[in-house]
Amino acid sequence: MADQPQPDASSLSALIQSRWSCREYRPDPVPREAIEKMLDAARWAPSACNRQPWRFSVVTREETRKAIASRGLLPGLSAQWVVGAPVMIVMGMCRAVVTHRVAPWLSGVDYAWIDLGIAGEHLVLQAMELGLGTCWIGWIRPAVIRKIVGWPVSIRPAILFAVGWPEEPSPVKRTDRLPLSDLVQWME
Ligand SMILES: Cc1cc2nc3c(=O)[nH]c(=O)nc-3n(C[C@H](O)[C@H](O)[C@H](O)COP(=O)(O)O)c2cc1C
Repeated sequence: MADQPQPDASSLSALIQSRWSCREYRPDPVPREAIEKMLDAARWAPSACNRQPWRFSVVTREETRKAIASRGLLPGLSAQWVVGAPVMIVMGMCRAVVTHRVAPWLSGVDYAWIDLGIAGEHLVLQAMELGLGTCWIGWIRPAVIRKIVGWPVSIRPAILFAVGWPEEPSPVKRTDRLPLSDLVQWME
């Protein structure tokens, strides 16, 4: 990892500002300790009632990555760059009855998806700190991916992360964002 370009990870805001969706990776393997560090960051995410509904499958085997890229993605998403990532992490959702089925029915808030979103961004930012690129991939066929990774029906594949050393240290052009003035209502 030491020879990889390191972003300015001196502050959380620098990490947040420098994260981007990487879609071109070098084929070099990613050390297991780096993947474990990312998973550990995800594990420390907060979750409704601390139910921790996330599960992970780490896929580095080329044959399995190819199977996911060729059969587990919806049309329109290029399997080519996805399979170029040396690591694919499938994040699955395991719903608890009260917190993730009964409570959302009462409140209208689907806590499990929020929990997975937080855990996923922990994972991605930890990867960034290690100099690794990532991309969230939500355009998937959950039932196909579930079969490929061998999960029971109680775990629903929710999102994929492509992970690897970025071909370029940062994107040519960053995606932009809506200004705060379009997003925020101040009630002072
Ligand atoms: C929940 C979620 C699902 C996404 N699914 C895909 C996807 O299927 N394919 C893809 O290329 N990018 C996907 N992305 C990446 C977004 O396109 C990207 O985050 C967005 O355009 C902003 O660009 P940036 O990440 O480079 O800042 C997804 C991102 C999120 C958070």
